[in-house]
Formats: sequence, structure tokens, C-alpha cells
Amino acid sequence: MKALVLHDKGQPLVPEERAEPTASGEEAIVKVYAAALNHRDVWIQKGRYAGLVYPAIPGSDGAGVVAATGSNSHAHWKGKDVIINPTLNWGASEAHPDMPHFRILGMPDPGTFAQYVKVPVSCLAEKPAHLSFEAAAALPLAGLTAFRALFTRARLKTGEKILITGTGGGVALFALQFAVASGAKVWVSSGSDEKIAAAVKLGARAGVNYRNSKWMEQLQEQAGEFDVIIDGTAGDSVNQLFNLACPGGRVVFYGSTMGNPSSAEIRRIFWKQLNVLGTTMGSAADFQAMTAFVSKQQIQPIIDKIFPFLEGEKAMRRMDEALQFGKIVLKIV
Ligand SMILES: NC(=O)c1ccc[n+]([C@@H]2O[C@H](COP(=O)([O-])OP(=O)(O)OC[C@H]3O[C@@H](n4cnc5c(N)ncnc54)[C@H](OP(=O)(O)O)[C@@H]3O)[C@@H](O)[C@H]2O)c1
Repeated sequence: MKALVLHDKGQPLVPEERAEPTASGEEAIVKVYAAALNHRDVWIQKGRYAGLVYPAIPGSDGAGVVAATGSNSHAHWKGKDVIINPTLNWGASEAHPDMPHFRILGMPDPGTFAQYVKVPVSCLAEKPAHLSFEAAAALPLAGLTAFRALFTRARLKTGEKILITGTGGGVALFALQFAVASGAKVWVSSGSDEKIAAAVKLGARAGVNYRNSKWMEQLQEQAGEFDVIIDGTAGDSVNQLFNLACPGGRVVFYGSTMGNPSSAEIRRIFWKQLNVLGTTMGSAADFQAMTAFVSKQQIQPIIDKIFPFLEGEKAMRRMDEALQFGKIVLKIV
């Protein structure tokens, strides 16, 4: 089979011939029709990720058709259109994944940037019927992370005010779509006025450009304080986020694209009785609830661009430069 392979940190993704995986026991083989990129794939390429093993076939997101199962008891999956839950070994608790066994598909396990991928049968879910393979491939990792951040962790309620930072990001855009669909009042930030305008078309009330040094004051003028803030950027903006949260508000971090803050004003957290929450991926129950929500609300993932499979490296560069609005997808079949 053809796969996109990373041979070392800082190296490009190169198409190569690899042996097709085989399934045993509780495993299944999915013929991948479409895969999607996440920032994680770029971190893996740059060598900025824990537990790196090269050569690697990255890719956490995929949709396709089940080609084989390891045991006959799962044979009913064969030929089904599926999306893959990229969470491996979440474990029994809904509160957190089972450390250190928890992993994410695509490192160290070979990922979806290949014509075939091996996954546990428990990670298969039927493709939402209203989605194409490309749209379905865009959903799993970012959709799951956004869903758990909003509903399992922040417990977002209809009518609440929410700020979602970096709206062009994959997780942030799903958070926007899900929050709008749930009846929340949504504001966004972005480094691009065009992306803010696009977010408003998707239902955001308004947004601010974080390249403007007065972005926090602008948001305070537009919206006052926020019940919920969802952020994947961190860095030195965390104190502004704590300022923007209402007393008793919930601030959820799912990433730190800008790194750690040089200082965090803890006083703001305890004085305002803030709930500062972390989240990563989600449980099988979160994944099931997310796909049910997407089907019920007929949500269409926003696709930035679909690249031919063998142009995976070009797709990685687009994500690295934050040029996208929505998910970057690789069409494999
Ligand atoms: N914990 C988890 O389970 C989990 C899951 C997925 C991702 N993540 C992490 O979350 C982060 C985002 O992932 P992703 O895949 O959604 O990435 P992505 O699609 O590449 O999005 C990153 C976005 O960050 C925004 N950004 C950059 N600088 C910013 C700033 N100063 N303030 C606010 N926003 C800024 C940009 O938004 P604009 O384009 O609008 O400017 C960019 O589009 C990454 O660090 C990733 O590793 C964690």
C-alpha cells in the first residue's frame, strides 16, 4: 500500500510503499478513503511531541470502509462506511484517560495517512449519513476535542456567552459550530479579519483580531464578560482570558500553540472563583455523543482545502502557516 512517511524530525512527508496491515482479535482494517490533518501532525513532524518514534505514518483522522476484522464476531462491520475514533486506550473513567496507556492514533501507532490503517474495533463508528468521506474524515479528533471541551468539561448551557479563540483552527471551528447549534452566544478571536467575517457567517456574534494590542478591551466592549472561554493557544494571553471570564466562569484549555505563559496571575483565578479546566480528546461516550449531535444538527464540517493524497507535504505546510479556515483533508480514494 501507499503511505506518507516521516523519517525524522524536520523531514518532509514522503510517499512510500509499505506492507498492508493485518488484523487479529479485536482489530479491524479500514481502507482509508480520506484523512485529515491536525496540528498534532505538524508537531510530530517538527519533533515537538512526546514519545516520538520514526519512521512514522502520521494521521489521526480518517474515514473509509472496513476491509477486514480480526475475529468473525466483528464480521458485521465488513463493508461498512466508518469514521475512526482516534482515541486509543481511554480506559474506564469518564473523568480522564487511563495514563500512561492512553494514546492517539498516528504516533506511535501507524496512522491514517495510508491506504489502510489498523484500529481497534471499538474505535469504529458508522459514518454520519449526511457526510461525504472527506467531510467525515474532518470530524473525529477536532470534533471530539471541541465537544468534550464545550459540553463535558465546560457544561455550556443555552444562552451563555462564550469566547472561542483562534477561530481558524480545526478544534476552534467545531467549537464554534457546536456552540452556535446549542444556542450559546459566541464571540471569536483570530489573526485574520477575513476569518472573523467567515465565523460571523457561521453564527458568531462578532470577533476581534488578536494582532491588535487592544483585543481584550475590544471584546470587553463588545460582549462584557464570558461565562465560558475555550482556548488552544495559551502563551501570554492567558491573563487576558482570566480577565475576560466572568466571576465563576469556566476557562478550558485544550492546547498551547503559543507555549507556556511567562507569568500567570493566579490571584485572578482565586479572586474571581474561576474554574480553569484542561481537556484532551474524549471518551468513547463523548465520541458517541459528538457524532449523534453532528447527525441530529446536520452539521457540515468546514473544509479548508482537499489535497490529493500524495501532496500531503503541501497540506502540512498550509497548516504550519495557519493559512487555513477549517480542516485540511487528504483525498485517498
Ligand atoms: N488536547 C487535545 O486533545 C488537542 C486536540 C487537538 C488539538 N490540540 C492542540 O490545540 C492546538 C490547536 O490545534 P488545531 O489542530 O485546532 O490547530 P490548527 O487547526 O492549526 O489551529 C491553530 C490556530 O491557532 C490560532 N492562533 C495562532 N496564534 C494565536 C493567538 N495568538 N491567539 C489566538 N489564536 C491563535 C490560529 O487561529 P487563526 O487562524 O484564526 O488566527 C490557528 O488557526 C494545537 O496546539 C494542538 O496541538 C489539542
